[in-house]
Amino acid sequence: MMTMQPAAAKHELQRISSILLNPASPHGALFTVCNDMFQLLEKILALELASPDHREDVALDSGRAIGPFWAAMCIRDFMRTQTYLLGLISAVQACQKKFPNQPIHVLYAGTGPFATLALPLTTCFSPEEIQFTMLEINPSSLSYLEKIIETLEINHYIRDLKCCDATTVDATPFQPYQILLSETMQNGLQNEPQVAITTHLLQYLEPDGLLVPEQILLQAGFLNTSFDEQGNFLPEEQACYLLQEVFDLSIPGLKKIEPDANQWAAPWIFPVVTIQIPETIDEKFTNFSLFTTIRVHGQHVLKFLESGLTQPSVLLSTYRIRERNVQKIELQYQQSNKPGFSLNVVEKQP
Ligand SMILES: C[S@@+](CC[C@H](N)C(=O)[O-])C[C@H]1O[C@@H](n2cnc3c(N)ncnc32)[C@H](O)[C@@H]1O
Repeated sequence: MMTMQPAAAKHELQRISSILLNPASPHGALFTVCNDMFQLLEKILALELASPDHREDVALDSGRAIGPFWAAMCIRDFMRTQTYLLGLISAVQACQKKFPNQPIHVLYAGTGPFATLALPLTTCFSPEEIQFTMLEINPSSLSYLEKIIETLEINHYIRDLKCCDATTVDATPFQPYQILLSETMQNGLQNEPQVAITTHLLQYLEPDGLLVPEQILLQAGFLNTSFDEQGNFLPEEQACYLLQEVFDLSIPGLKKIEPDANQWAAPWIFPVVTIQIPETIDEKFTNFSLFTTIRVHGQHVLKFLESGLTQPSVLLSTYRIRERNVQKIELQYQQSNKPGFSLNVVEKQP
């Protein structure tokens, strides 16, 4: 396969970004340009990421770091990609007001081979306005990214590029950074190390800096999996019977659990959240589930079913809850090599 010339590659990135960063772009156009961006970056690398050698995950004590192909594929979740990009731009603009006359330094933890959430921003900010430090645990992903940066001639946007575990790295050499950016998650904050990365790297964030996403909110409730007459999923108001917030991954949310930010280095023990099961549940609500909402920044929010990241994560069927006469369910977020919620089901005493 022939490698691409920088001028052609830059021109194509410019074209793709102009559609991707336009909030008025229709879904069909977003879908197409996300595929175009995947193809452009694959062409720059002159390899086929879909082949089996690029699928290997890295297993960490804090969760799974997905292999280059899977990380690259995230781009195709087009609503996710656009909402994160628009949210990041909005966060950079907010930081420009808080920290005037200096480049905004973004620490981007978990870039994958494409640094999807950074590349389009090089078409709308100058290197005097924005700088990135990029962290990635997978050495193949990082070496692919190096080649992409070189071909697109955007080295002057990159302060540092490091192969490391973002849950343990000493981030003092990257300071000061005004934005901490990471998308290392699945729905329900399960399996991947988003929480461990966030809590670790927030310790080093410049005071008054911003976390992106600003808030990942998990709520427990019941899910109605029926379809409407056209065969579409029901809208959120009909599909979700929300009971209670179970996790607020945001700076204010973490401060509620541990007000002293000097303690944020310590391993986190997250509180047990008790969900009282209502006496009656409409039979249409067939599953007890976790619902994920991601506020990337300001008005840029990924809601129910808008992305793979905001699919409900089913914990228990309503049938089992009734059969076992469940009174309450205790949920606790556990950090481990397979992070996620532990579930303790408390049955009614006869
Ligand atoms: C879900 S992919 C997202 C890729 C890209 N940022 C995007 O949004 O399209 C997450 C990436 O983070 C990397 N990653 C996961 N855990 C990490 C860790 N602890 N330290 C550094 N990188 C990590 C994975 O290897 C993977 O490339």
